[in-house]
Amino acid sequence: MRTFVIRTFGCQMNKHDSERIAGLLRAQGMRAVGDAGDADVVVFMTCSVRENAVERIRGQVASLKALKTGGRPDLLIAVGGCVGQQEGEGLLRALPHVDVVFGTHNLAHLPALLESAARTRRPTVEVLDSSDTFASDLPSEREHPWHAWVPLMVGCDNFCSYCIVPYVRGRERSRPIGKVVAECERLAADGVVEVTLLGQNVNSYGRDLYGAPRFAEALRRVAATGVRRVRFATSHPKDLSPETIAAMAETPGVCPYLHLPVQSGSDDVLAAMNRHYTKDSYLALVERLYEAIPGLALSTDIIVGFPGETDDDFAETLDVVRRCRFDQAFTFIYSPREGTKAAALTCSVPGDVVHERFDRLVELVQASALEKNRAYVGTVRDVLWEGPSKRDESMLAGRTDTNKVVHAPCPAGHSPQSYAGSFCEVGIEAAQTWFLSGFLSGSLSGFLSGARRA
Ligand code: 5AD
Ligand code: SF4
Repeated sequence: MRTFVIRTFGCQMNKHDSERIAGLLRAQGMRAVGDAGDADVVVFMTCSVRENAVERIRGQVASLKALKTGGRPDLLIAVGGCVGQQEGEGLLRALPHVDVVFGTHNLAHLPALLESAARTRRPTVEVLDSSDTFASDLPSEREHPWHAWVPLMVGCDNFCSYCIVPYVRGRERSRPIGKVVAECERLAADGVVEVTLLGQNVNSYGRDLYGAPRFAEALRRVAATGVRRVRFATSHPKDLSPETIAAMAETPGVCPYLHLPVQSGSDDVLAAMNRHYTKDSYLALVERLYEAIPGLALSTDIIVGFPGETDDDFAETLDVVRRCRFDQAFTFIYSPREGTKAAALTCSVPGDVVHERFDRLVELVQASALEKNRAYVGTVRDVLWEGPSKRDESMLAGRTDTNKVVHAPCPAGHSPQSYAGSFCEVGIEAAQTWFLSGFLSGSLSGFLSGARRA
């Protein structure tokens, strides 16, 4: 039986696409293996959002080159995802040992492209501008039986000036709401307890199909399928509607967790980024969210060192972080992406200034995260177990509905893996910056009696 390995970089959409590729290859009679050394096919699902992804892939492919020249001439290397889409044929010049280059719109063709490369012994490239097939309509092999990624839409129309996504993922295209709901019903019947609805800009879901967004309705209908937890990403602040806030507040299955990228606190920088909101309107939105959704956890993305960012601009970003009480912030150093508007800006911020700002920001974000976590100590939370903790394999690791990682000792005689996909109440005893620790409440009735219910 032929074997494959998939290496995935980047966002949740890539993780989802990789699950679809695994499903497709398995449907061809292939088997997944853990190590590239044992694989007949190695697939790279690449990301070009921030780093120099070609360089990164070059390192990975170089290590396979030795395998290919050292007795495994039939090993096939395929590069897909955003780098494949962006570079196309050019990738073969940069990485001559690659056999197949494919893009973000033609996952379904990968088996045929691999077959053609194997038959002709020539590199095969196929990159399409768009596609009518959603990856979700393909077979899938889920990484976790209890969790599924469900795309609502692909692409992005926002053209934030720093961002490559609209160029590599194309225009916004929504899936019909009936298909999304039907898929979630099937998943629920198949034992999936958590779905994550995906899109670069889920709040505008449906606009292209129905003339007006239907994201709030999608949330309510997906929650009604019986899937216990509904998550989603990503939200653009300019499109987050009162209907969506109401759907989050009123629908028990929709997790009280929101990823709401702010990118910067400076109105000048936000305008240069083409974000279409101001610091004040973002702050007002956050206050409305905290008021409407009790216990909401909020995360964000922030870019440091956008061209022209002054000390005063950066001070506004720190102010936003202080005032928004973020549970988490993903912080990035600005990196010019060829082909974007911002790449033409020449007023770059010196590297040492950027790094100093970045460190101050990270410190503030960590303090905010710890403060939010401390409020959990002494409460009881519903936790969905994911398996063994990465820090200590004998411990259980899972997440609250607010996306907090929770660690707890695994009851004697059971393996942490056997808990994966099940829910349990946990009494939270301690808070760190990025995780909580506690005990399964069943075995801790003494602790429970003194605990406040969340
Ligand atoms: N440089 C730095 N960060 C970027 N992001 C997107 N493009 C860039 C870039 N060119 C960040 C944004 C976005 C997240 C997914 O990646 O913060 O929200
Ligand atoms: Fe990129 Fe902006 Fe679209 Fe997000 S909303 S994918 S940052 S262009």
